[in-house]
Amino acid sequence: MAAAAAESAAAAPRALPARPLPLRLAVLGCGVVGRAFLRAAGPAAAAGELRIVSVTDRSGTLHAPGGVDGAAAAAAKEAGSLALLRGPLLALDGAAAAARIPCDAVVDLTPSPLGGASPEDLPLLAALRAGRDAVTASKSALALLPAEVAALRARTGARLLASAAVAGAVPLLELLEGALRGSGILEVAGAWNATSTSVLALVEEGAGLAEALEEARRRGYAEEDAAQDLDGRDAAAKACIVAAAAFGLPLRLDAVPRRGIREGDLAGFREATRRGRRTRLVARVTAAGARVAPETLPEDHPLAAAPGEAAVLLRTALAGGISLRGPGAGGPATASAVLNDCLSLARGRPAAGAAPSLSVA
Ligand SMILES: NC(=O)c1ccc[n+]([C@@H]2O[C@H](COP(=O)([O-])OP(=O)(O)OC[C@H]3O[C@@H](n4cnc5c(N)ncnc54)[C@H](OP(=O)(O)O)[C@@H]3O)[C@@H](O)[C@H]2O)c1
Repeated sequence: MAAAAAESAAAAPRALPARPLPLRLAVLGCGVVGRAFLRAAGPAAAAGELRIVSVTDRSGTLHAPGGVDGAAAAAAKEAGSLALLRGPLLALDGAAAAARIPCDAVVDLTPSPLGGASPEDLPLLAALRAGRDAVTASKSALALLPAEVAALRARTGARLLASAAVAGAVPLLELLEGALRGSGILEVAGAWNATSTSVLALVEEGAGLAEALEEARRRGYAEEDAAQDLDGRDAAAKACIVAAAAFGLPLRLDAVPRRGIREGDLAGFREATRRGRRTRLVARVTAAGARVAPETLPEDHPLAAAPGEAAVLLRTALAGGISLRGPGAGGPATASAVLNDCLSLARGRPAAGAAPSLSVA
């Protein structure tokens, strides 16, 4: 009898756990990071976790509700245009796509202007105004209008993840907001502007500023406006994002004193190298504010980042010093942080056909 029951239980089809629906992503930007993300998202798309439903660049929006093949879209862009994939693009720019393309989250991989253009028009703000969850590698809205971003999120409940905006693949924001919350953070210092690190390393070897900057551009590290890398605005913008994550401080870019890398300082940097020291553009963030300036450091100092690396040194009340170092820029490293954030958003979504849940993580 017992054996028969066991047999029929074994024969009965087992109910499979319901699969979560794929997270539908509207991707804005198809540059160095955008194309790397489109390629990196392939396995998660094949596994049904994510679905890229649109890709937008300055010429318009490629929209395919059933899913865009990310690698094919990246290849089309490299061959000249997203339109090579499926014909004419929709006339939607980043802000319009962020608000209007049907999706579950917007992935903002557009540039990070830190001055000039009117920040109210940033695509990320359009996404948040529409109440959409977002993942961003762009620093602009978070550093220029932190209070507005916080107010929009509070009004709509939209989730916003920005791991890629600071330190590339190094999961600094996740640690500040998670595992290190209890450590009593006193200061976060970072050499997290990849262009200036790359430029300084080449200048230390004797290169000129223009030549060194060209190499940083070639490696895919430089901002569209590379002046903001060298004058410290990019490092200061990241400091604003870190200030919010570590100390809940709504710091604006214009409140961060900064000194960047100037032509007149280069001879001094080369001289320091002869004494076994390295110069790096360092941002220091505490509960009282932030500042950015070049610092001359011992060669083996935790902040003496190598080209391509982000280096971070945390001073904590309970655990002392904690240093982090890893790939801080470039397409694939930055895309890995974007992908992690997308997968975090995808987690906890309702399963297909499941009863609606009252609490979604
Ligand atoms: N590169 C890195 O190592 C790195 C590291 C960390 C964070 N980030 C951040 O990641 C973002 C992307 O960087 P990236 O290096 O990929 O820049 P990028 O190569 O200059 O690419 C920017 C892309 O955004 C598109 N775009 C510009 N304005 C747009 C708009 N209004 N609407 C829609 N698309 C628009 C551009 O279109 P077109 O192709 O038509 O010009 C381009 O495809 C930036 O915010 C940067 O600060 C970059």
